[in-house]
Amino acid sequence: MLDGKKMLFSGMQATGNITLGNYLGALKNWVNLCDEYECFYCVVDLHSITVRQEPAELRKRARNLLMLYIAAGIDPEKNCLYYQSHVSGHAELGWILNCFTYMGELNRMTQFKDKSAKHADNINGGLYTYPVLMAADILLFQSDVVPVGADQMQHLELTRDIAQRFNNVYGDVFTIPEAYVGKAGARIMSLQDPTKKMSKSDENPNASIYIMDDRDTIIRKFKRAVTDSDTRIIYSEDKPGIRNLIDIYSVASGKTIAEVEKEFDGKGYGDFKLAVGETVADVLEPIHKRFDELSKDKAYVDGIIKANAEKAGYIANKTLRKVQKKVGFPERIR
Ligand code: TRP
Repeated sequence: MLDGKKMLFSGMQATGNITLGNYLGALKNWVNLCDEYECFYCVVDLHSITVRQEPAELRKRARNLLMLYIAAGIDPEKNCLYYQSHVSGHAELGWILNCFTYMGELNRMTQFKDKSAKHADNINGGLYTYPVLMAADILLFQSDVVPVGADQMQHLELTRDIAQRFNNVYGDVFTIPEAYVGKAGARIMSLQDPTKKMSKSDENPNASIYIMDDRDTIIRKFKRAVTDSDTRIIYSEDKPGIRNLIDIYSVASGKTIAEVEKEFDGKGYGDFKLAVGETVADVLEPIHKRFDELSKDKAYVDGIIKANAEKAGYIANKTLRKVQKKVGFPERIR
């Protein structure tokens, strides 16, 4: 609790290009949560180095992601937007929690299995203990709720188990976090294979709309989106491509599924795809504009980074000191 508000924590990796799926499924929904919660949105750069990164590129992407948080409408005065690497407590608590996590648990993590298959030449310890660092992120802020996608649910479950285990030994140290279930966040699928999720790590650039794509690119990608050989624009199980486009159009325009079906009754896929492209481009336009302004205002963004890292660090340290004391580390002499 801070100022009578419950704590909410989430994070995103700065690797890969942020997609429309990330925006409609996460970022957009984060904007108003600060009315109800004390929100911390972290750029999780420590997690990023579990796979090899080009340093200059990582630095640039991390800053861009932080600016994108702001450009997407998350108010940096009302939310704490910061880099994980600026708050050393993440790594310090991560170490301690490693000692409270079993290899058997980590062996079961499906994301580890997927990622080690993908990066077979670099299956490092960090990739293996990635979920423990994520647990540290969440527990450091005594988070009550964590908005996460289905793919991160297993990590959140593990976080709860670690917290329980620690509390059983040392008393009530950590708040046990829960998944934030708000209004169903949109699940946006790949434009090239609508049976899988739109992903920032997809190798085919036509599969994803990147949040920074320009209007022409957006319209072209929607035009090429994989659909079926039918012609009707209806929301149906056996039309995953059209269903995905209806979902996107619905969230982007604020219209219900039924309204969308009605609007395009009797019209063809071509008209529909163009409308989806234009609507999405309209939604992203103000974000691009704001991002552009932020890119040109280094002093302002630097100020946000400094102030928010301090705020996050202060709160993180409170938990960290308590944990260090509980496990038996010697008192600091002042
Ligand atoms: N692992 C998350 C992902 O890849 C990112 C993340 C890191 C995170 N720490 C977190 C999400 C803490 C929520 C809470 O999506």
